[in-house]
Amino acid sequence: MQKRQIKENIYWMGAVDWDRRLFDSLIPLPDGTSYNAYLVEGSEKTALLDTVDPSMSDELMRQLDGVSRIDFIISNHAEQDHSGTIPRVLDRFPKAKVVSTPKAKQMLIDLLKIPESAFVTVTDGETLSLGDKTLKFIHTPWVHWPETMVTYLEEDRILFSCDFYGSHIASTDLYVTDQGRVYEAAKRYYAEVMMPFRSVIAKNIEKLKAYDPQIIAPSHGQIYDRPSWIMEAYRDWVIGPPKNTVVLPFVSMHDSTKQMVDHLVSALVENGVRVEPFNLVVTDIGKLAMALVDAGTVVIGTPCVLIGPHPIAAYAAFLANALRPKTKFLSIIGSYGWGGKTVETLAGMIPNLKVEVLEPVLCKGAPLEADFKALDVLAAAIAEKHKENDFI
Ligand code: FEO
Repeated sequence: MQKRQIKENIYWMGAVDWDRRLFDSLIPLPDGTSYNAYLVEGSEKTALLDTVDPSMSDELMRQLDGVSRIDFIISNHAEQDHSGTIPRVLDRFPKAKVVSTPKAKQMLIDLLKIPESAFVTVTDGETLSLGDKTLKFIHTPWVHWPETMVTYLEEDRILFSCDFYGSHIASTDLYVTDQGRVYEAAKRYYAEVMMPFRSVIAKNIEKLKAYDPQIIAPSHGQIYDRPSWIMEAYRDWVIGPPKNTVVLPFVSMHDSTKQMVDHLVSALVENGVRVEPFNLVVTDIGKLAMALVDAGTVVIGTPCVLIGPHPIAAYAAFLANALRPKTKFLSIIGSYGWGGKTVETLAGMIPNLKVEVLEPVLCKGAPLEADFKALDVLAAAIAEKHKENDFI
């Protein structure tokens, strides 16, 4: 694709990665992604904001063919999907300076072996004049690594936010056209890479209140030309209370746990609680992460394998612990054959979750009437807790 104009002397550059299906060898990308770079030509200096994943660097280099000067390469984030083409850009424009936070400088040296002499580091709030355009650098750690910053183009009120507010979508649309689709993708992205740092993200959101961007230009996905809704969505995901929702990741071997899951889903619905069950054998792990953003309660369903939880259920617990959702309650249900330590093992795997554990329901073999009654009691307890906490 060719570079595309956003405003006078401001261009989208970059690459659309239609075929990528996995990020960091971990995160599913059902809709591909894009690596957005931006060119800002001031009356005196020209800046390139971020670059592209090394796998697509030819595309950016081709777009730069008609560009006569790059004075600054702004590196908002050291992860290679944005920084990986900096060495090639420096080869072509050897006088260019890489502008980054001090932490990003060291990471870029470590990851890409960029020489120290190529850097200019910026403090929080520092500005850089390109002549008639001014870039302001706002340190925003943990979106999504500790070194990240965003860049605000003051005269045009454009926030170049890199991963922050981004979404993994491959599209030829420069701007958001389908808000629902982008909402889903942005929420998935937030859940997968930023939710663990919620308290810091909340501070970043607070910090950005001082700005009124007309455009938010992230480095993945489409550009927001009406950005208020995505800023509001982030506020809800990060600061808003959990919702009246139970997320129920489960796995079943001989149907006993599945029968319990089905019963609990039905009992929760009767008690007015929304449920999102995820059969972990077929689940897109990104969808599970996204559901965890709002979950008031998590219930893990697992049979006992040998003496502990099924390994797939253990993976779900590990994931939830790593992602640190704002969930307030947790329980465990499932079946066992001859004993085991399912509850103790799972409970020991979630030290990061500040949750109240509600009485687990485990049954020997296939569930009987008493087990279904215990699930009814659990459903009623969850509904009561959600009501007490005003989860909507
Ligand atoms: Fe898009 Fe954290 O890289």
